[in-house]
Amino acid sequence: MKVVVINGSYHSNGVISFLVDKFITALKNRKKDVEIKEYNLIDIPIEFCKACGCCVRNDGKKIGECPQADFVTVRKILQDMLDSDILVYATPIYEKAMTALLKRFMERSMAVLYMGKAGPVGRNETNKNKTGIILVSCGSPFPVYITQGVIKYPIDILTMFCKGFGCKKVEKIIVPGAASKEELNDKYLKRIYHLSVKLGNNNF
Ligand SMILES: Cc1cc2nc3c(=O)[nH]c(=O)nc-3n(C[C@H](O)[C@H](O)[C@H](O)COP(=O)(O)O)c2cc1C
Repeated sequence: MKVVVINGSYHSNGVISFLVDKFITALKNRKKDVEIKEYNLIDIPIEFCKACGCCVRNDGKKIGECPQADFVTVRKILQDMLDSDILVYATPIYEKAMTALLKRFMERSMAVLYMGKAGPVGRNETNKNKTGIILVSCGSPFPVYITQGVIKYPIDILTMFCKGFGCKKVEKIIVPGAASKEELNDKYLKRIYHLSVKLGNNNF
């Protein structure tokens, strides 16, 4: 079972990294043959998209072309994401969105989409055995994060990207009231644990 984690947090020791660790540890305890690749975007120099539009032309490839020199690095990450059985997007909420760090990477990930008549469409067919996981944390408590629409945009767009990478199912774990690791409510840690048990029981 191949798991790829895209971590958009600026903090290597913050809330999101803590939650990702909990997920990975629980999954490894459940399943021995699990291969994890974690991309901490803060450690990877990636240029901004130049909006040339090359990557979204429909040329029948699994990953569209990008003329930027660092596309060698980006393409390798995108290929790993395509090859994964479980694709995890993990990000804190900043200004009702994913971090700018993750957003920059997502703009470069447009290469897995092409421009259809009604907007971007996934190049890759969905795979019924592939699961996307969206893990977000935010400072607002329950139910404020819902009434203020804090997670609406990031959940919508990350779901679209999971599908673009071939995920048939997309699981969402939202951890509110998470200004620091110390404030985390056990109930959300249990949700992460239960999800890892569920996925650990699947045959990939
Ligand atoms: C610049 C900045 C913007 C933030 N914006 C929001 C926000 O719009 N809504 C919210 O509920 N929390 C917001 N937060 C709180 C973070 O989402 C929360 O503390 C998160 O769990 C931090 O995760 P990390 O330690 O991995 O960075 C913001 C924090 C920062 C530093």
